[in-house]
Amino acid sequence: MQQIFTKLSVALCCVVVLAQPIWACDTTSSTTTTSMDWWQTAQFYQIYPRSFMDSDGDGIGDLNGITSKLEYLKDLGVTAAWLSPIFTSPMVDFGYDISDFFDIQPEYGTLDDFKALIKRANELDLKIILDFVPNHSSDENDWFVKSVNREKGYEDYYVWHDGKTNAETGEREPPSNWLQAFRGSAWEWNDVRQQYYLHQFAVQQADLNYRNPLVVEQMKRVLRYWLDLGVAGFRCDAVPVLFEIEPDENGQYADEEVSGLTNDTEARNYLKSDLIENLPETIDMAYQWRVVMDDYQRIHGGDTRVLLIETYAPPAYTMQFYGNRSVAGAHLPFNFNLITVLASDGFSASSIKTAVDNWLDNLPAGRTANWVIGNHDQRRAASRYGTANADAMNMLVMILPGASVTYQGEELGMTDGDISWEDTQDPAACNSNQDIYEQFTRDPSRTPFQWTSGTNAGFSTAAKTWLPLAADYETVNVETEAAAQRSHLSIYKALVALRKSSVTLQNGSTKYGIISDNVFVVKRYLSGSDSIIYVANLASKGVTVSLLDFDTTLPTHLTLLIRSLQSAKAEGSLFEVSGLSLAAGEALVLNSSSSSSSS
Ligand code: GLC
Ligand code: MG
Repeated sequence: MQQIFTKLSVALCCVVVLAQPIWACDTTSSTTTTSMDWWQTAQFYQIYPRSFMDSDGDGIGDLNGITSKLEYLKDLGVTAAWLSPIFTSPMVDFGYDISDFFDIQPEYGTLDDFKALIKRANELDLKIILDFVPNHSSDENDWFVKSVNREKGYEDYYVWHDGKTNAETGEREPPSNWLQAFRGSAWEWNDVRQQYYLHQFAVQQADLNYRNPLVVEQMKRVLRYWLDLGVAGFRCDAVPVLFEIEPDENGQYADEEVSGLTNDTEARNYLKSDLIENLPETIDMAYQWRVVMDDYQRIHGGDTRVLLIETYAPPAYTMQFYGNRSVAGAHLPFNFNLITVLASDGFSASSIKTAVDNWLDNLPAGRTANWVIGNHDQRRAASRYGTANADAMNMLVMILPGASVTYQGEELGMTDGDISWEDTQDPAACNSNQDIYEQFTRDPSRTPFQWTSGTNAGFSTAAKTWLPLAADYETVNVETEAAAQRSHLSIYKALVALRKSSVTLQNGSTKYGIISDNVFVVKRYLSGSDSIIYVANLASKGVTVSLLDFDTTLPTHLTLLIRSLQSAKAEGSLFEVSGLSLAAGEALVLNSSSSSSSS
């Protein structure tokens, strides 16, 4: 099987080129360098505003705090920062429950503060991306209040239903057995309207009705409003749940089947989600948003405005977001494989290969890949993969082709905070109980960003921060890591710099695979330029490998460019590919040139 990619050499196909054991995937070789649009090789950086930097001492991060730290992002080499929601919100789901889509949460600042943030970002040539939360609004949103009261134009803004009558008891019951993401029924009775409304997330997050064209238009207005204020695009939240099936001819919603995955009847995955997730209508809505982005650029000029889509769906569904031959879709549906596959299959070179295969083999021709290892909904990358592998994973997302995404603190190797039941804030955990909340809580990855080794890690001057700090802040922080000769931070910065300067990383083809038991290797190559080779020993003991087992065409020696903290090798030195010894957790980025400069 060989697919030919005409435009971008980073578009990949998988071809077994040599009769080697467990690996290898290869892309078509590229001879020309194509000029890429900014987002195709971008370094995206997710800011969780509540926990990034507190400027006014209330223990809660804010916009002025972010503005004061934009230079830090610039210094990291970030292309675009995505801010988790900053809009007016009762904060039931920490901003993912929006009561006014057109204003800023007062705790975070004002519209003027936002304009100042954009101005400073522009000065620094940093792009700002906002979180677009299309699926639901807060129950405190005016739209919802009007819909409850059946005000003209708002009657069908949300998904309302009378429910059904239990044949035995004669009592009223929810319209279907559907479950919400944060435990329990996805339907809530509203006494005023005398109907149930749908909420795929918390009770206070009412699902907007996308079968109503007024809602579709309103949400496009939200997009244009923030584009007018200068944002470079959107990360679109919880997209796969946008549409649900329609009621049957009797006006009733069908029940979901039991999944067999858990006995916990309150948990979302107790049931399948066939009727309430991943519907075709949702894909079309993403295409419509893309039209909004493209029209906007055509009218107002400037750089491409991007759409990043949050979706934890099977590849057959996820890849449709990219669009097809006739329709442009999202620029990047997030690739969570390095999170999800490694969680289900365990952390190993072979799981990484499965995760990478699973994306690149399914990627439509001419589209751009992307790599994510963490976000505010997941445990910290360094905690999931082990601190020893933090650099190896940061390297991997920057060496693989396409865009890469960093969640704040990954550059420092930040680990999970230990949050007691008393300190727990996340509704996903609060809706459970003291005995089981740790299975659900997302608080551990949302602890304050660690700037210094001082009070509150330099995040805030408050007596108490909204979530406690992670225990390791005295050593894992920007100040300490910037001063150290070598740190996760210095390695991260070297990687971003290499990515920016290397045409091979930007335009080159990709081959990857496993050698030995647990060593993952990636080669990026481009004719006329140096090749870049990534090799990581993910085992807990040392190993000596021959990279020729991976690729017989490699030169006899490679030059070390960047190494993980576990490595005692010297940068700039030459290493023999036929006998490369790697300590546990040792990860290296090498190049094929005999001088240490990369192309
Ligand atoms: C997305 C967000 C998550 C939020 C949910 C509901 O998955 O990432 O934090 O709780 O949507 O908006
Ligand atoms: Mg504050």
